Amino acid sequence: MQTLNEIAALRETLTRHRRAGRSIGLVPTMGNLHAGHLALVAEARRRVDVVVASIFVNPMQFGPNEDLDAYPRTLDDDRARLEDAGCDLLFAPEAGTLYPRGLDAQTRVSVPEVSAGLCGGDRPGHFDGVATVVTLLFHLVQPDLACFGEKDYQQLAVIRRLVADLHLPIEIVGVPIERAEDGLALSSRNGYLDAAQRAAAPELQRTLRALSEALEAGEPAEPTLARGLARLHAAGFAPDYLELRAADLGPVGATTRDAVLLAAARLGPTRLIDNLSLTLPR
Ligand code: PAF
Repeated sequence: MQTLNEIAALRETLTRHRRAGRSIGLVPTMGNLHAGHLALVAEARRRVDVVVASIFVNPMQFGPNEDLDAYPRTLDDDRARLEDAGCDLLFAPEAGTLYPRGLDAQTRVSVPEVSAGLCGGDRPGHFDGVATVVTLLFHLVQPDLACFGEKDYQQLAVIRRLVADLHLPIEIVGVPIERAEDGLALSSRNGYLDAAQRAAAPELQRTLRALSEALEAGEPAEPTLARGLARLHAAGFAPDYLELRAADLGPVGATTRDAVLLAAARLGPTRLIDNLSLTLPR
């Protein structure tokens, strides 16, 4: 696996692949790779000739009081994992390479509507940061497809909308959530949990499952969600939100069938997110 840090070298290498008629897949990450990321690489590996992963802890998507400095950076381990997973090229730029004029002077990409509410409500500017860096990576790599995890459901919706609105010829592949045996969705932030918090964490997924069963059985949304919030509080979570939305993140209406439950909740300082798709009854 080749590792490149500079834009010129990345472009030169990928131009050669493209001229040889090879298809290119991109897996953007912030590193500290776990089985969830490796599933993205495996999916790309199945679909394209050249798999490119990026590792970049994107300062633009972190709020002033978030964990940018503490975010785990494990480049050597990540490189070994990517190589084992069959990745061909790792792009790992410095912040000054992607944002040479600094964050304040950087042109930004903003995706309205789908970025609002949910994580966008709790983390103002977060999805502008995601949309900006993903657009930059799309322009630099010019992939045929790019893989993203379904755990970040709203992020995936933002990226699908961005690609549609900017008419980018890139297929966006959503990859199902990888979970620990006890159901906890894998996340780089799970490493922040202490033993007691780690034991409590799967209750987020169990709560979503219980609510989904109730909603699919026709129970009304409002009291069901209120019960879910109470259950999360009782398990020691401080929920940021627990919402039922249409699958496209629009509001649930009388005719909505494909829906999704989305939750973000804190255990101590650690913010966990999860979601579960469901079908509402007629
Ligand atoms: O999901 C992530 O790890 C990040 O938000 C992404 C898509 C790599 C952009 O920095």
